[in-house]
Formats: sequence, structure tokens, C-alpha cells
Amino acid sequence: MNIRTAAARLALAALAALACTGAAAQTIKIGFITSYSGLNGNLGPYMERAVRLYIKQHAKELPPGVKIELLPRDDTGPNPDKAKQLAQELIVRDKVDLLAGVIFTPNALAIAPLATEAKVPFVIMNAGTAVITTRSPYIARTSFTLWQSSYPLGQWAAKQFKTAYTLVSDFGPGWDSETAFAQAFEAAGGKVLAKVRVPLQNPDWAAYMQRVKDARPGCLMVFVPAGKTATAVMKNFSDLGLGQAGVKLIGPGDITTDEELPNMGDVALGVTTMFHYSAAADRPANKAFVAAWKKEYGANETPNFLSVGSWDGTAMIFEAIKQQGGKLDPDKTMEIFKNWKNPDSPRGPIAIDPETRDIVQPEYLREVRKVSGALANVEIETVSSAEKDPWKELQKKK
Ligand code: PHB
Repeated sequence: MNIRTAAARLALAALAALACTGAAAQTIKIGFITSYSGLNGNLGPYMERAVRLYIKQHAKELPPGVKIELLPRDDTGPNPDKAKQLAQELIVRDKVDLLAGVIFTPNALAIAPLATEAKVPFVIMNAGTAVITTRSPYIARTSFTLWQSSYPLGQWAAKQFKTAYTLVSDFGPGWDSETAFAQAFEAAGGKVLAKVRVPLQNPDWAAYMQRVKDARPGCLMVFVPAGKTATAVMKNFSDLGLGQAGVKLIGPGDITTDEELPNMGDVALGVTTMFHYSAAADRPANKAFVAAWKKEYGANETPNFLSVGSWDGTAMIFEAIKQQGGKLDPDKTMEIFKNWKNPDSPRGPIAIDPETRDIVQPEYLREVRKVSGALANVEIETVSSAEKDPWKELQKKK
């Protein structure tokens, strides 16, 4: 027997052994698109770290021989062309089984038709404009919608203030936040004095805040993308003395995102928000999540709402992999996503609404307070234990 024949026999024997044990390695590829540069470039790692931490903690639950490969890509901020190009490459060249991630609505909307065409399930772990999930039957969302926070915020605010002023970033989630808040606030008898939309990048906050001050509303409702922009809002609100002028700053929790609180300083004290996640929540599942985060990434690090959307999204992906024994069929995956629930997420009980593929979750009224010397989003009331996206609920009634 010559060497080539011997080598070929060995290779065949190895293949046969693999076939017998059924242990052929199976790799599930997840194309992970988020922002590592540009506006909110600091937030991508909050998502990726959550996915990696979940995989690390739970890899042993995967069917034998199944591995997950994460393919992270930088969409460079709100940049739909770039996001589309990345998704295309991940689908065609890398042959990913799933797409996931995405901070910005325009990017999610650009990817949606590709998910449909290629039948690649797409797990949205942040982007929050209500309409996104209607753009592809292959989308499921584990984050939130701006309607979920801003609509109950408007209902609450109407009980506290006669007048409001809204200031939102001029793109999908800003329009949703403005409409949801104003609709709820006015239905409950409040009056919105002005609805102002500001450019997404580098607005002249001092000029906008001066106009708010002149209008003297009872409250100012702001939506800006979480992160550094929210800190700029706080600074200008404070510098122009709006608080002293009797204006109360409120908004969805994006404006007091947990990891920015130390950068905001005491001006954030008393800001009231509606949201689904606070790193300061004392639910045992959240305490365990925050402790695991600090153990893995450092005592001064904290997860935020982008982290919890990504953590729960990864849990949902695990369920699809486990139920299918590691071989993913896109339509079966979507069926599993539609029926996924977790009574014990760090944010409380959550589920996917099978009709809309959108998340159902609690909404908490929170206030920024000092806890053990540090600013925290303290949950003061659970206003809904299972909030469905109000926009979709209201559409059904039309
Ligand atoms: C979005 O683009 O949908 C978006 C971005 C940042 C947020 C919330 C929503 O904080």
C-alpha cells in the first residue's frame, strides 16, 4: 500500500468515525452588526459583551459538537448603506445562519428586505422604532419600542403637569417618542406647547433649550439616542437654568442610560423616566447579571439597556439552537422565536408577542437618585407588567 492510499484510508476511517458518533462539529454563525465608531460608537461593545458573556455562561447547554461563531461588524453609526452592505456580505460571503444586533433604526430598516429575501432570521437587539418588525417576517425584537416607554410616560405626565414641550432627535425613534408621548398626554387632558425635532448629530442644544425656557412648560420630554448625546442634553438643560425656571426634565430611559450617569453628574438628579431596564434594579436575576458583568469586565463597568436587549436576544437564539439540535431551519427558528418567553430576565418577565414578533415587557417609572454615593435609575413604580407595543395595539383598533 503506498502512502497516498494509506492516507486516504485513514481520512475515510476518520470520517466514518465522525458519522457514527454523530459528533460532526456544527458551527452556528451569527452576523453581528452594531456601532463601534461614529455616533454612539461607544455603545457597540455593550451589546457584543452581553452576547459573549451569555455564550460563555451557557455554551455547555448547546447540543454536543455545536459551537457559535460571532462575526462582529461596525456599521459606523446611523448609516443604512453601510449596514446593508455588511448584511449582504454576511449573508452571501460568510453564509451566516442569523443576523443580530443593530443600534439604529435606519440600519435595521435597510437590512430588513435582505433578511426576507435570504430567509435569514434577524434578531433586533436595540433599534426601537415600532414599524421595524413589520418590515420582515424574519425579524424578532428583544429590545423595546419607543412607544412602550413614551406612551405610558405621557399618561403619567398628564397627572403631574398641565403643559409639556417635546424635543426629539429627527429620525424614526424620535418621531415615535414624540407621537406616543403627545397622544397619551393630550388624550389625558394635557397640552403640548411645541413639538420640536432636532438634527440627529450635533444640534445647537443651547439655542433649543433657550426656546424651551421661554415657553415655560411644566415638563420637557426629550428623546435622543442613548449615550453621549444624552449627557449633552443634561449639561445644556443645567447651564441654561431650566430646572430653576420650574421645568421638569422627563423622557424614555434613553436619556439617563446607566453607563452615562457618572458623566452626567448631579444635574441628572430627579430626572424622571419610563423604561424597561435599570442596572440598579434589585430583582435577583438583575443582580446576578450585573455581578457577572462586573466579574467579567471590571468592577467599574456596568451593563445598560443595550446589554440586556442583547443578553435576552442571545438567550432566545440559544433556545432555537437547542430545540433544533443545532441545525437551524429559518422558518422553524422564527416559530421558536415567536413563542419564546423568559419569566426571569434581568428586566423582569418578558415574552415575544407571536402576532407581531415584538417584545412584551414591564415598564417602570424611575427617578435618578443617589444610591451609596452614585447616581442610579431607581425604579419607583411598575406601571405595566406586560406592555405590548402600544402603536401596534392602537393600529389593530383602527
Ligand atoms: C434607534 O435608532 O432605534 C435608537 C437609537 C438609540 C436609542 C434608541 C433607539 O437610544
